Amino acid sequence: MAKTIVVSGASRGIGFCIAQRHIQKGDSVHIIARTQTEQVINLAKENANAFLYQGDVSDTQKLAPALSQIKAAAAHIDILYNVAAVFFEEDRKGLAELDIDRIPEMVNTNACGALRVLKGLAPIIDEHTAIINVSSEAACIGTTEEVALYSYTMSKAALNIATKVYHNEHGKKRNAVVVCPGWVRTDMGGPTADLAPEYSAGKLIELAENLDKQDPSGLFFKYDGRLLPW
Ligand SMILES: NC(=O)c1ccc[n+]([C@@H]2O[C@H](COP(=O)([O-])OP(=O)(O)OC[C@H]3O[C@@H](n4cnc5c(N)ncnc54)[C@H](OP(=O)(O)O)[C@@H]3O)[C@@H](O)[C@H]2O)c1
Repeated sequence: MAKTIVVSGASRGIGFCIAQRHIQKGDSVHIIARTQTEQVINLAKENANAFLYQGDVSDTQKLAPALSQIKAAAAHIDILYNVAAVFFEEDRKGLAELDIDRIPEMVNTNACGALRVLKGLAPIIDEHTAIINVSSEAACIGTTEEVALYSYTMSKAALNIATKVYHNEHGKKRNAVVVCPGWVRTDMGGPTADLAPEYSAGKLIELAENLDKQDPSGLFFKYDGRLLPW
């Protein structure tokens, strides 16, 4: 049966591939894109089951119209992917060089953005909604080997704890996990990364579609289904 899907951060990269794959499967796909790229505009134009909304997850006011339109169009979400995130290469610096005042901007987009989407769409989210918050293994506190990546790892660690607290607040009434997509060949991951975005997107979809079977809510996964430490 066709599902109802919401994807944030789908103008390009992994989010775009997730939206495209679900559209090909015949699902109704609600796409939140900050930049209206040619590829996402064409995706929506060419497919009657794709619905495109302009939305910026870093700003409650700029996101509100998209969330209102999605609530008006969909009675219930089957899978919600919070993919939107930023990574500023120029912030890859040791503490001595780092502009600390820039860190909140990344935390705002990468962690608060997902909470804005979850809060705004709450009326059409329930215990049957699979919620995939896309994070990064670089933010595993127990195992990370990053040495000069404060802002990004801090932002993803904030998303991780936000997901856990969201799970604690809602218990079995919500099915929310954090997932690392792997190192992926996108604008963010760069051309030498391990995985094609279509492959990573396919694995995230597989995980989302099988979430109910494992009762994994509040856990942290790698794209291939392996459990990660926090
Ligand atoms: N690629 C990797 O190797 C890798 C590794 C670990 C984790 N991740 C995570 O995987 C996810 C997807 O990454 P990616 O590689 O596909 O990155 P990407 O190619 O840089 O795409 C990022 C997407 O997020 C959107 N976005 C950024 N800020 C936004 C905002 N304020 N509001 C709405 N959308 C916004 C971008 O839209 P615009 O076009 O408007 O900028 C774009 O669609 C991210 O959460 C990332 O942190 C990626």
